[in-house]
Amino acid sequence: MDLTTEWLGLTLQNPFVPSSSPLSKNLDSAKALEDAGAAAIVMHSLYEEVVSAFDEEMAQFLHQQESGHSEAQGYLPQPAQFPSELDRYLEQLASLKSSLGIPIIASLNGVTPGGWVKHAKELADAGADALEVNIYHIAADMDEAGPQVESRYIDVVQRLSQEIELPINMKLGPFFSSPAHLAASLEQVGAAGISLFNRFYQPDIDIQALRLVPGLHLSSSQESLLAMRWIGILYGRTSLSLSATGGVHRAEDAIKLLLAGADVVHLCSTLLERGPQQIQQIQRGLVEWMEAKGFESLSDVRGRVSQLTVSDPSEFARANYIKVLNSYKPLTS
Ligand SMILES: Cc1cc2nc3c(=O)[nH]c(=O)nc-3n(C[C@H](O)[C@H](O)[C@H](O)COP(=O)(O)O)c2cc1C
Repeated sequence: MDLTTEWLGLTLQNPFVPSSSPLSKNLDSAKALEDAGAAAIVMHSLYEEVVSAFDEEMAQFLHQQESGHSEAQGYLPQPAQFPSELDRYLEQLASLKSSLGIPIIASLNGVTPGGWVKHAKELADAGADALEVNIYHIAADMDEAGPQVESRYIDVVQRLSQEIELPINMKLGPFFSSPAHLAASLEQVGAAGISLFNRFYQPDIDIQALRLVPGLHLSSSQESLLAMRWIGILYGRTSLSLSATGGVHRAEDAIKLLLAGADVVHLCSTLLERGPQQIQQIQRGLVEWMEAKGFESLSDVRGRVSQLTVSDPSEFARANYIKVLNSYKPLTS
């Protein structure tokens, strides 16, 4: 069975790629992902806030050193003795690259198109095969219009593509007024791919303490339908690689996303909940299904139920909205 797929200019052995998660922080858990069949790994993110805070602290420290304390100065550690978050990240990237045989994708996570993009060059030099960018921005500012929000994403890709040769994958959230137009704009400024969709974690309210509490809930299969629709809409209309992220727990979820047109399917919650062997399990389910359907290669599957191929493409957009609502049978008393 030929499961190879092209993604961000890389040829992968299969479409299963663990998305950004703590599993890449540790060499053993990353190796376990590779052994279970991961075709590539997206690393945990390097956060803009963390890198910027370190840069500021270091600048302050150097300023204090320059402005006196001559005697004490000899006892102070030199900047090189503090490995920054960036140093640690680069070290982990280099160690994953030297220990694993699969492509390693570095991940930058930020909120502004600021100076942190300069670090992308260092990630490229440390051997990353591609770069994923995640702008975790909640558009809550009443003075920031939709096009301004979109330009945060477009500007970052534009700047990065001018600075580095690496393929750039943008991880997008689902809350844009025109996701298809944004995808086209990202393609125009040099993105190689997009991942649909980034998952925003919702804060919760503790009704006893009357305060906001952060919450992390892992996903469920139902969530994958959001990416499935948008991948189905974009398939065949863009040269961007399309990755599906969110809600893949069973072979069936992955199959639907591939049928809609995904080049790769990302896994995260299911790996955290059940371990790396989920990759094998899901891959086995895909192969069994392909055999039963008589498909010999993944290219026969990809995009087979996309907007390009279904008899009524508007089904992807309005999804038979009225018919769906009318199909609901309320309980009668
Ligand atoms: C514990 C945890 C850590 C994560 N860390 C990152 C991260 O560092 N960067 C990032 O872009 N996404 C991160 N994600 C998001 C995942 O990569 C993924 O997009 C999301 O969980 C949806 O996929 P899933 O339904 O398979 O979990 C994290 C998710 C979890 C649960």
